[in-house]
Amino acid sequence: MNKVEAIIRPEKLNDVKEALVQVGLIGLNVVNVTGRGAQRGVTAGGSRGVGRYEIDMLPKVKLELVVHDEQTQIAIDTIIEHARTGNIGDGKIFISPVSNAIKVRTGEQGEAAL
Ligand SMILES: Nc1ncnc2c1ncn2[C@@H]1O[C@H](COP(=O)(O)OP(=O)(O)OP(=O)(O)O)[C@@H](O)[C@H]1O
Ligand SMILES: [Mg+2]
Repeated sequence: MNKVEAIIRPEKLNDVKEALVQVGLIGLNVVNVTGRGAQRGVTAGGSRGVGRYEIDMLPKVKLELVVHDEQTQIAIDTIIEHARTGNIGDGKIFISPVSNAIKVRTGEQGEAAL
């Protein structure tokens, strides 16, 4: 099992969520975050600095889903396809292993709990 954490543009959330359902990925968390990437939260720069502003931290949405190993790549591909604009600030995806999961209602563990 892997945890897929994807930081995306808030306006892409609905597209990404719907696309994940289409590939069978239903359970997830959505968290509003503020963050910064390589540009340190700078989003706009007018020519010669005209109209440039810095706000340091930008609002983003973090999607968090735990998936079977074999679903990991489709989760990544789906998120990229629906979150990408090609401009800076499209976001980032982090993958980490999950050692166990427990479904509270039934006590099922591991893959069966997803
Ligand atoms: N190294 C990181 N660790 C954790 N979160 C990050 C990291 N880098 C970016 N983020 C999160 O992802 C959001 C979007 O990052 P962003 O897409 O701007 O990354 P980037 O590296 O600057 O790439 P780009 O050059 O395409 O903008 C940030 O606002 C922050 O919430
Ligand atoms: Mg950036």
